[in-house]
Amino acid sequence: MTIDEFRTRVESHKAEASQHILGALDANALEEQRTHVWSRTVQQSFSKALGELPADDRREAGRLFNELKVHVEAVLESRRAEIASLQHALDKPKLDLTMPARARWRGGKHPVTLVIDEIVAIFRELGFTVALGPESESEWYNFSALNFPADHPAMDMHDTFYLGEGALLRTHTSPVQIRTLQSSPPPIRILAPGTVFRRDPFDASHAPAFAQVEGLAVDEGISFVDLKATLTLFAQKFFGKTRTRFRPSYFPFTEPSAEMDVECRLCGGRGCSACKGTGWMEILGSGMVHPSVLEAAGIDSERYTGWAFGMGPGRIAMLRYGLPDIRLLYDSDIRFLEQVAE
Ligand code: PHE
Repeated sequence: MTIDEFRTRVESHKAEASQHILGALDANALEEQRTHVWSRTVQQSFSKALGELPADDRREAGRLFNELKVHVEAVLESRRAEIASLQHALDKPKLDLTMPARARWRGGKHPVTLVIDEIVAIFRELGFTVALGPESESEWYNFSALNFPADHPAMDMHDTFYLGEGALLRTHTSPVQIRTLQSSPPPIRILAPGTVFRRDPFDASHAPAFAQVEGLAVDEGISFVDLKATLTLFAQKFFGKTRTRFRPSYFPFTEPSAEMDVECRLCGGRGCSACKGTGWMEILGSGMVHPSVLEAAGIDSERYTGWAFGMGPGRIAMLRYGLPDIRLLYDSDIRFLEQVAE
């Protein structure tokens, strides 16, 4: 063998070894390639060939052999590092980019808000617009102008939060009737949704703050027929086909007064515990606006007549969603709201 032949053999082994080493895909395969391309036998065969060269060439052959050794070991080491880092990436917990994201509830409209929106939408079609009034009211707007005589027992129905100096938290949305009558001349058709306050115990059927929707229609020639027809139409639109009935009632600010019942939503009128066996559920109070109320607001009661109603969207939400306890509507418990909010 000549030094040139030795050099060729070193070069071709360098290429072959690199190719094998870089082809190894895991630690085991790499180890297999190492024993194949850089075994003791392979190294010995190079030493043996080196020993057979003429003495003058051995120094150069030794350098070539050493260079081969350094090269092969470097390639082995770098491949070992590559495989280790690939393995590390594979061992990490798997990230599945095709997995659908977990649905997250982003909130929605509270059931009482949904009911108010729906009531407003139905009356809007009949030409009613929304009017608002303050939650902190004067005794005059809340009671006197609404024909509550001083110290009248009707005020017992409204256990009031007094704020002092003639101010109070409104106990109903009816003061918006007075404010509207004062500010806009008939014909009037308004709806006034809002929060009202009563010193009631917070139990399954009472809350100290709750929603009401007031309605008021005033014009020439308005009669009880208009009241009954409009509220019956409302009930049909809101609840779907349902029977309704009007029962005589009393409010100081309406005469005559009536409460409207709808067929019990739970038993369909047969009688159950929710309707206390009557088959009916009360949804609103109403009546013809008392002439003294019109006069208190400066409207000529000889010329104009009107009707009004007040209903509780919380109560209606309870009927609609079959809720056993009004506190569900005010506790803000996400587990409940997730089921009914939209
Ligand atoms: N304001 C009455 C209440 O809170 C309801 C009502 C409104 C009745 C309008 C008649 C007319 O109970």
